[in-house]
Amino acid sequence: MTQEIRKKIVAGNWKMNGRRAFAKELVAAIAAQPVSGCEQIVCTPYPYLSGVHDQLSGSALKLGAQNVSEQEDGAFTGEVSAEMLADCGCDYVLVGHSERRSLYGESDQVVADKFVRALDSGITPILCLGETLEERESGATEKVVARQLDAVVAATGIAAFARAVIAYEPVWAIGTGLTASPQQAQEVHAFIRQKLAKEDVQIAAGVSILYGGSVKADNAAALFAGDDIDGGLIGGASLDADSFLAICKATTK
Ligand code: PGA
Repeated sequence: MTQEIRKKIVAGNWKMNGRRAFAKELVAAIAAQPVSGCEQIVCTPYPYLSGVHDQLSGSALKLGAQNVSEQEDGAFTGEVSAEMLADCGCDYVLVGHSERRSLYGESDQVVADKFVRALDSGITPILCLGETLEERESGATEKVVARQLDAVVAATGIAAFARAVIAYEPVWAIGTGLTASPQQAQEVHAFIRQKLAKEDVQIAAGVSILYGGSVKADNAAALFAGDDIDGGLIGGASLDADSFLAICKATTK
């Protein structure tokens, strides 16, 4: 499988951080230094999507949301539909982030429904997969990741992955300062790609698989060196323009 055909991607997941002025400043600093050969995405909180979209016009930086409703428009108080995200100019949306799965009880089925809604609205879903520490220690990593992936493949079919991105994020590495070793990350990425290849070799070879979990400027290059690692999903370090940009540059080394 040749890696050249895959897009290098770095997505910043701001989570519930920042205010309007912070968003404006961070986006301006990132947009001012495009990193060629790397698709750069900022996943901002909902209220700032439209403002950031206006700010981005003419820039190569892409806009992402952190969540989407599994429902279509209607009586779902407090929810935001995929059509609304598309209307606000979103190119990408995270689905199934582990914080959504664990804190808000999103099941594999709900995640699959969100994935479908995003695709139907022309937004590229970034499907997050990953095991907890307990699951890793009991040797269940592949089983968990396979179950999370299977739920989506069953809902959409393999062809949908031509228009999707996957992020492998071990839950125990998110926001903890612990990262998977480059080898641990590469093993799971290869497992995910091989699993997709059983359905369709070409789609598997073309899908970008990002690593997430305490990626920083100083460990990004080592993690991204893995053959099946096509970039990163970045939380804490995406809130600082210099570290985010350094991580983006690490994909092109
Ligand atoms: P982190 O978060 O980089 O702060 O560990 C990653 C994520 O949750 O996407």
